[in-house]
Amino acid sequence: MKCLIVFSSSHGTTEKASMLLCHFLKCDVQLIDLNQCNSQPDITEYDTIIIGGSIHLGSIQKKVKQFIKSNFEKLLTKRVALFLCCMNEGELAKVQFNKVYPLELRKHSIANGLFGGELLFSQMNFLERQIIKKVKGISGDVTNLNEKSIKAFANQLN
Ligand SMILES: Cc1cc2nc3c(=O)[nH]c(=O)nc-3n(C[C@H](O)[C@H](O)[C@H](O)COP(=O)(O)O)c2cc1C
Repeated sequence: MKCLIVFSSSHGTTEKASMLLCHFLKCDVQLIDLNQCNSQPDITEYDTIIIGGSIHLGSIQKKVKQFIKSNFEKLLTKRVALFLCCMNEGELAKVQFNKVYPLELRKHSIANGLFGGELLFSQMNFLERQIIKKVKGISGDVTNLNEKSIKAFANQLN
């Protein structure tokens, strides 16, 4: 089985999660960072497409939205799994997940994952730092990446 993980990461956490996922998957996996792509990747040769991104101010990366839009019909003919990195947890995280991934794709998907997130001040620009300080009341890094959830997601696909 050939498996593709396509992701976009703003500060490196979704990339980290994608690599961990890759480690837990028992199939032939390729990783594509959408931020490094100038054109849409060709997904024809893969049986399973795993899509991941993160939430910034309520939205997922534009590159993830564009990937889904450009490949929508093809995705519906494949095994699809969706995951998200974000700091919100529980219901709030689920609401964000449902907002950023289209209903038809969610219905079609065989696994959905909420992997937690990280707040990495060294990776943020000035404005992002100000927002996080104000909204979260913190000024130091927070790591809340959920390895257990990544493993469970991988096990669903294995
Ligand atoms: C400016 C900013 C805004 C964010 N907004 C949200 C948000 O609306 N909801 C949420 O759950 N997490 C939010 N986060 C947390 C990110 O989802 C978290 O940092 C995630 O791990 C980022 O992953 P990435 O490095 O792969 O982009 C925000 C983080 C930053 C820096």
